[in-house]
Amino acid sequence: MLVITTNTELNTFLKTIKKDNNLGLVPTMGALHSGHLSLVKKAIKENDHVIVSIFVNPTQFNNKEDLEKYPQTLDTDIKLLSMASDQIVVYVPSVSEVYKKEVTPKKYNFQGLDLVMEGEFRDDHFNGVGTIVEMLLNLIKPNNAYFGEKDFQQLQIIKKLTEIENIPVNIIGCPIVRESHGLAMSSRNERLPSQIRQEASIIYNTLKAAKEKFGTKSAKVITDWVTKVINDNPNFKIEYIEISDAQTLKPIKRKQKGKKYRAFIAVYTANVRLIDNIALN
Ligand code: PAF
Repeated sequence: MLVITTNTELNTFLKTIKKDNNLGLVPTMGALHSGHLSLVKKAIKENDHVIVSIFVNPTQFNNKEDLEKYPQTLDTDIKLLSMASDQIVVYVPSVSEVYKKEVTPKKYNFQGLDLVMEGEFRDDHFNGVGTIVEMLLNLIKPNNAYFGEKDFQQLQIIKKLTEIENIPVNIIGCPIVRESHGLAMSSRNERLPSQIRQEASIIYNTLKAAKEKFGTKSAKVITDWVTKVINDNPNFKIEYIEISDAQTLKPIKRKQKGKKYRAFIAVYTANVRLIDNIALN
């Protein structure tokens, strides 16, 4: 399996790809788990070549401690990828290769998609995500790029990014992969004590119950109920729960026919911030 670290090596590889071949990109920050591997498998199925990037992007971390503690498991990641296919190309650039001198994010106008939920609680996070994803898409020029729906807001913002920056690529969202007890797979789960990791099934169980209630109860009743259930467990503290239009991410006012809604949640437990979401209709 080819592992490359510089843009020069990357360009050399890209030149070997035949014009009519499809190229798929799976951008990651490493610490790969089954969620990432599901994106990689889909990319392998749908493309002639697949590049997986591994880069812990400093400009999308609003919290220094979160960046410092972000798990880095490159050797295991490479093993996992080579087990999926030895044809994958892994691109692992350094911070200076990506950002040269200025480690700062570009400023975008994501037309409000970035002002709610994660954007409200994590300053500049989506500018950082936009900066690295735009750079990867422009450098690699994939036909298809794959992102998980666990970060559903990120997925919508990346679709908007390709629209406002005119980047010709299919952005493909892939379903959330969960641990056996329901917790959405995330690299940050590794930082949870095992008992909390089990107990964190409360997040998905509460979202599933919210979905059941969505047919008959108002958004306010549901979000108050979710907040109470989560906060009643002393190990968990809710940061936000929103029921929003899945397209615009605007909080629901009144249910409208033909619109898709989702519930979005962020919860703190054991000093780790977890997010999840669920389609409600
Ligand atoms: O979802 C992630 O892992 C990151 O936000 C991404 C898309 C790889 C950009 O750094």
